[in-house]
Amino acid sequence: MSNKMWGGRFSEGPDAIMEEINASIDFDKKLYSQDIAGSKAHVRMLAKQEIVPADDAKAIEQGLDTIAGEIEAGDFTFSRALEDIHMNVESRLSDLIGPNAGRLHTARSRNDQVATDFRLWVRDTLDTLDGQLLELQSTFAGKAEEFANAVMPGFTHLQSAQPVTFGHHMMAYVEMLSRDRGRVQDARKRMNECPLGSAALAGTSFPIDRHMTAEALGFDRPTANSLDGVSDRDFALEALSAASICAMHLSRFAEELVIWSSAQFRFVKLSDKFSTGSSIMPQKRNPDAAELVRAKSGRIIGALNALLIVMKGLPLAYSKDMQEDKEQVFDALQNLSLCVAAMTGMVADLEPNVKELKKAAGSGYSTATDLADWLVRTLGMPFRNAHHVTGSLVAMAAERNIELHKLTLEDMQTVEPTITEDVFSVLSVDKSVRSRVSFGGTAPANVKKQAKSWLKKLEKE
Ligand code: ARG
Repeated sequence: MSNKMWGGRFSEGPDAIMEEINASIDFDKKLYSQDIAGSKAHVRMLAKQEIVPADDAKAIEQGLDTIAGEIEAGDFTFSRALEDIHMNVESRLSDLIGPNAGRLHTARSRNDQVATDFRLWVRDTLDTLDGQLLELQSTFAGKAEEFANAVMPGFTHLQSAQPVTFGHHMMAYVEMLSRDRGRVQDARKRMNECPLGSAALAGTSFPIDRHMTAEALGFDRPTANSLDGVSDRDFALEALSAASICAMHLSRFAEELVIWSSAQFRFVKLSDKFSTGSSIMPQKRNPDAAELVRAKSGRIIGALNALLIVMKGLPLAYSKDMQEDKEQVFDALQNLSLCVAAMTGMVADLEPNVKELKKAAGSGYSTATDLADWLVRTLGMPFRNAHHVTGSLVAMAAERNIELHKLTLEDMQTVEPTITEDVFSVLSVDKSVRSRVSFGGTAPANVKKQAKSWLKKLEKE
């Protein structure tokens, strides 16, 4: 039997494999509430414009509400033969109210319908994500405030560089997340235009009111070009780009957690709630949640690549290729949401090992820059000379396998005779971080101030 929605010119139905490759219902049923909301807005507009009789429009709206109830109750049978959510809903509507159901599809196509449904889903998901990211930001800022004084090693090349504070490190992620949220909000703003009424590609000869449907669905305005309206998937790509960058940030911190929680570092303890044990090695506490956050960034970035590649060769307007957009976006945004939730839990429970962090902060000659700066400040040496003198002192200490502050004044004076006792005042890690008072620097007072001001700002949102 040919398809009951579009089979007029067909004498045979599709091959089973055709049905399998063509049907999207298995995944696009997720869009049922957006599809029904879009149809209700559309039919209300058709009635107002006297394109469809008011009574029929009313029956259609009621039928659509019934269908929403059936789907929510799990009483709806989705059919692959009906391809997608749009035709599954419309077909059920005709079972419920008869042939007048067919008036719903006036001045509309599945092309503008799916573009509208999908935008609504992405828009609402971005809003949820933004709220989740806000929570993660406050969690990081809370840790930062609590551990603003805790000294730890700062790294470049993963080699000890200069001491920083744990709070400062946490605040770095608050800043990253703030940009992530900016990207999410920006994508949301740009995508909030309604393609409904673009019809198949060329618009329609019916006197529709696209502003009315756009407004009813919470869009800022209708899209301005019907070809673009049905074939634009930038909105999904922008959401995936924002998601990918955010996932990359989460992955970097996840990687740090994996390193920091190892027995060799012992910088932090992850809570039992976010660790797992080994079935063979009883001593193990594995950072699985962090590892999965790190790994899932791969599939999120993969989704962005996949959709870019699907889209890049498509002539205007709609092609069925575009049906491949949904699974990538659903998967990526849902996984990102899961990652953000897991990260929020891990950060909230995170226990930095303050003693171990401080010990590590002093290793690896991390205050060498402070020593060089002292030479510049106190002896008036040009920085390049100071760098050289300090390098020689580090080499001397390394040769004896001791810390910089364990060299005696006499030792130091063999390299630079004018060095005085005062130099020891800058060799402690606490003094080092306290001296970094430049704007954005790691001084505990700075960190506390920034954490407090972020917390206050986030609380108001
Ligand atoms: N399931 C389709 C999709 O997701 C809906 C649009 C179908 N349009 C068409 N002309 N066959 O893209």
